Amino acid sequence: MFQQNKLSRLLYALWSDFCVLNPQAQFIKNSLESPGEQVINDHLALRTFSLPEISAEALAAKWLPYGYEIEGEYAFNSKNLTALHLRHFDVGMPKIFISQFIVQSASVGLQKIITRALAQLGPDKIAQESLLYSGRGWQASFTDYRDLCDESEYAAWVYAHGFRANHFTVFINKLKKMNDIRDLNRFLKDRKHQLNTSGGEVKGSPAALLEQSSTQAVLVPVRFSDGVYEIPGGYYEFAKRYPARDGKLFQGFVTESADRIFESTYSG
Ligand code: NI
Repeated sequence: MFQQNKLSRLLYALWSDFCVLNPQAQFIKNSLESPGEQVINDHLALRTFSLPEISAEALAAKWLPYGYEIEGEYAFNSKNLTALHLRHFDVGMPKIFISQFIVQSASVGLQKIITRALAQLGPDKIAQESLLYSGRGWQASFTDYRDLCDESEYAAWVYAHGFRANHFTVFINKLKKMNDIRDLNRFLKDRKHQLNTSGGEVKGSPAALLEQSSTQAVLVPVRFSDGVYEIPGGYYEFAKRYPARDGKLFQGFVTESADRIFESTYSG
């Protein structure tokens, strides 16, 4: 297999780290699997800043040796974000969705906080594949986090958590019984998981070839230079895909839905 073991190890490292950021995820995965389902990931998502060394393209480059290639590009103008997604030649492998905050078009204050943080990441660390799940490699203060939140909750999230999977996404089509997104949402709500309701619990439609829902990120404690504070961590997403005209399942993303899903880490 093409680098398959190394890719599996990378995906597992990202998942293990993600479970710290989102303690609900392993619990939800287990509760889906205990009646005999097997959870397959549709995609996982990474967040970053648009600075050249750590841009979405730079993070994407770390996946190319494993058989991934860049497939789609997206823009979220109201959030000052762009994104791309990577697709593996084996359609059974999860897609990788990488978004980035466009630092260059942010306020001078935000740019200063971000460039100061990134100056603390050495080139060696940036060059390593483990950067993808290395967390926050810089000192961060809650004061700066709050200031960033006022301008961009997305930028504040990356500043506070660093590099790690923001979410994993269950591929609903592969669930034997729970393969209707509304049934799945009910299952989650029955177990007291809060869903992201921005734009409705279900984003997208069969006509858009993609339906998505997600949990709202739970608060996790994060150590800042000025204290430990609880802030939104990661979330778990669920995606159902529909066949396009060619009869094959749609493999892209729907900008309007993804735009709402970003809000799963908003503190509200
Ligand atoms: Ni997603």
